[in-house]
Order: sequence, then structure tokens, then C-alpha cells
Amino acid sequence: MKVFLNSEFMSRDEARISPDDRGFLFSDGAYEVIRSINGKLFRPEEHFSRLERSLRELRISGIEIESLKQIPEKLIAYNDLTDGDATVYIQITRGEAPRKHAFPDRRTAPTIYACASVFCPIREKFQKGVKIILVPDTRWSRCDIKSVALLPNILANQQAKESGAEEAVFVRNGTVTEGTHTNFCAVYGGELLTHPLSNRILGGITRNVVLDICREQNIPFREFPVFEGELRAAEEMMIVGTTTDVMPVVEVDGRRVKDGKPGPITRKLMEAFQKMVYRSR
Ligand code: PDD
Repeated sequence: MKVFLNSEFMSRDEARISPDDRGFLFSDGAYEVIRSINGKLFRPEEHFSRLERSLRELRISGIEIESLKQIPEKLIAYNDLTDGDATVYIQITRGEAPRKHAFPDRRTAPTIYACASVFCPIREKFQKGVKIILVPDTRWSRCDIKSVALLPNILANQQAKESGAEEAVFVRNGTVTEGTHTNFCAVYGGELLTHPLSNRILGGITRNVVLDICREQNIPFREFPVFEGELRAAEEMMIVGTTTDVMPVVEVDGRRVKDGKPGPITRKLMEAFQKMVYRSR
């Protein structure tokens, strides 16, 4: 397996990152996950501009975003992933420096790491839908930054896994924010609702595409909070993200959503989204 580290492609076994790297010591970094289908990246420009924004917000400088843009396609090619689904992971940290909280010397170079892996969507989950659990949103107030500091997400997703659910969805002050690695949408009276862009959620690329599909297909939607107390009344629910596509949610904390089957709006969005993603096939 070939990976990219700092300025070169190399075998994964040769890749070495210092124990003084601030990504390791402080989770001081940002990342992106980009989908690839038959060697073609899905919405790479959006992912790179979000990465640029995350780095700017974290004040990690010294990265020329343009120079990173050829890395994913090369990784896909070098790892023979040009047939079928794959994901590319890119992480940038503030670099290697003695452990002090404040930023290191300005000359410290950020660490750039990228790798590609096979991705296998599980068809049954799209057909039958998945279960979610609700968990308190214990995260910081800058969830709009795609930071590698993901402990609350990890703990919550593990809790979901241990209770046989696909995803844990966060609730803050009675408002459903998003999942551990997905955005959340619910349907009321035929209208799709999803949390507005704010510091409380990551502005998901898939979420954007879903809203574009709603516009194209005249599906009513509103970027408006979904309240925990009103979840029981939801007609449909879905989680959306780079590694989930549009996935129907059919059970929340052991309670069925409507008849426990993916609803019509979810199916419409799921089909349109998959068509868009797999257009190159
Ligand atoms: N996660 N919300 C959170 C907290 C996320 O981590 C993600 C993506 C999303 C969906 O964003 P997008 O549609 O741009 O993938 C929403 C990636 C896939 C991950 O952490 O693996």
C-alpha cells in the first residue's frame, strides 16, 4: 500500500511520523475524507475548500491547497483503486515540535498525510434502513471545523455499535445536531428539515448535495432545527455523509420511525444521490 507523507509517496511500512507530532500529542490538525468511484473523485473542490477553511480557522499555515489536489488521484492509481469504490483520507497537523500548548516556531512545517482504501457500501442498509441512538452532544463549540479531535464522536459511535445501532446522533439542549460522522435530516409533513449551518454542525458536502437535489426535484426543505421532543412525529429520517451516502433511519432508541421502512422522500433522495455519485460508472 502506498501513502503520501509530507512531500512524497511511499510504502505505508516506510511512513514514519514523529512522536512529537502535534497531531499525536494534541489532536492539533484537520482532515477530509473524499469518495472515489472508478478513479473519479466526488466533489473534490468542495472537500479541498472545506479543508482550507478548517486550516484557516485552526490557524495552521504553510499549506498550499493547490499543491495537494493531485494527491488523491495519484493514491487511487498507485493503489489499484481505479475500479469501484474507495475513500481518500487526508490529514494535516501543525507539525512536529516540543510539547507546548501555544503554537510552535513559525518555521515548523505542517505534517501532511494521505492514504486511500477500498470502500464497500452495504446494500442491505440502504434497502432496509438502519438504527440510530440519541446521545448528549458533549462536543466543543466549533463543530464546523473538521478537526481530528474526535473523542466524543468515537465514544458515541462505540456506544451505538454496542447497542446494535449504525450511528449515534447528538442532541444539544433539546435540538438534534448531527451524527458522529454524518448529518441528520428528518421529514415532517413532506418537508425535509436539517440543522442550519452553524458552529454546532459540520457543513457536510453530502448535506449540500441532498439540499441541491431537493431544489432540483421540488422537494420542500428547510434548514431548521429538529427538536428531540418532536422526533416521534417524524415521518422519515436519514443520515447523510461521504461514507454513508443517503441512508434511511428506521429506528431511534429502539422506537420505530413510522412503519419501520424507508419512506418515499428518503428513497427518492437516496436514488438521486446514488445516481449522481455513480454517474461515471
Ligand atoms: N465524516 N458530520 C460530521 C461530524 C462528520 O464527521 C461528517 C463526515 C459529516 C458528513 O460530512 P460529508 O458529507 O462532507 O462527509 C457530518 C467523515 C466521513 C469521517 O469522519 O469519516
